[in-house]
Amino acid sequence: MEFATRLSNVEESATFKYSSLAKKEGIINLTIGRTNFTTPRLITRAAVSALENGRVHYTPTRGIPELREMLAKKLKRENNIPDIGPDNILVSAGAKQIIFEAVMALIGKGDKVAMPNPSWVSYEQIVNLAEGEIIWLPLKHENDFIPDEEFLSALENSSPKLIMLNSPNNPTGAVYPEKIIREIVDIAERKDCWLLFDEIYEKIIYEGKHFSAGSIYPKTITVNGFSKEFSMTGWRLGYCACPNPDLIEKMNLIQSQTVSCATSFVQYGALAAFKEEVAEERDRMITELKERRDRFVKGMNGLFETKVNPAGAFYLFPHLGDIDDLAMADKLLSNGVGLIPGSPFGSQGKGCLRISYGAVSLDEIDVALERIKATLA
Ligand SMILES: Cc1ncc(COP(=O)(O)O)c(C=O)c1O
Repeated sequence: MEFATRLSNVEESATFKYSSLAKKEGIINLTIGRTNFTTPRLITRAAVSALENGRVHYTPTRGIPELREMLAKKLKRENNIPDIGPDNILVSAGAKQIIFEAVMALIGKGDKVAMPNPSWVSYEQIVNLAEGEIIWLPLKHENDFIPDEEFLSALENSSPKLIMLNSPNNPTGAVYPEKIIREIVDIAERKDCWLLFDEIYEKIIYEGKHFSAGSIYPKTITVNGFSKEFSMTGWRLGYCACPNPDLIEKMNLIQSQTVSCATSFVQYGALAAFKEEVAEERDRMITELKERRDRFVKGMNGLFETKVNPAGAFYLFPHLGDIDDLAMADKLLSNGVGLIPGSPFGSQGKGCLRISYGAVSLDEIDVALERIKATLA
């Protein structure tokens, strides 16, 4: 059977693949791209009430007006993004679908997309699906995977139509400082290219501050979602904002011919997300995640070539030296620890492991550390 050529370069999500391998009795699962907290009750109640009140039909393709209105206000209040009203917002079935729609709307065969090396696995595969061409911008473990001079000059010497960035970062946990984001925006502005800025972990920060590129650059597509901050990965709800209504229109065109709209009662549930009580619950989650990070970081000291202490998300991305990370991930799995090798995130992830502490207890972290030590010995 012959399949479309656009699929010839597209691979299965490595994170989903390794996650399914780690779902076995006795394995400490450090592969998961989510937390083990539950969705705040207020949101669940609002969704149940919407279901019971007959909110079970198609919604406008862009999302219900109340939610878009609320998100526009949130982006102005919390992210200082100007010129955003409900018509500049698109709501969809997860941030991944939003990213897919943005890439599909902007990138055709051979169009260039610049992204950090390493990056979240789906960026590369979505660009491959659009038959775009990737320009890799190298990051270094010695520099905690924060963009440096080499990264900036690789960007300066390229001509992308789109730059894709993510902070706080998956897989590295790095939080990009405002100064660096301003330098990247400066280059984007001179080259007049689009910037997709993925802020899905924006609230999961332990040190430092989040800075939204959309606050200073109008050609930014600010991407966010409910999956991580509100523990809603299975609800499938994400959104983006862009001052350019034409881009939102084109993305909406793709949406109208694919998923049609995000699930109706999920959107109504999300209307409860920006309440004080929910923010308090989220802050308790972040305090617990920080405890887990600190426990891991302390236990890992001296284990790996580099010290890691990332400031955000719920990932660690230690560099183990000149080793085969794929073989090491297999070895660790057979010793009871599931995690994701660094290579699928880009060539600069070679020799690294991506560890998620989003869904494990402190006791499990201790056991995982013992097993990792024994495997490396
Ligand atoms: C950087 C990044 N962006 C986007 C997503 C997708 O999130 P969603 O569940 O909203 O599709 C993820 C999920 O792991 C992610 O890590």
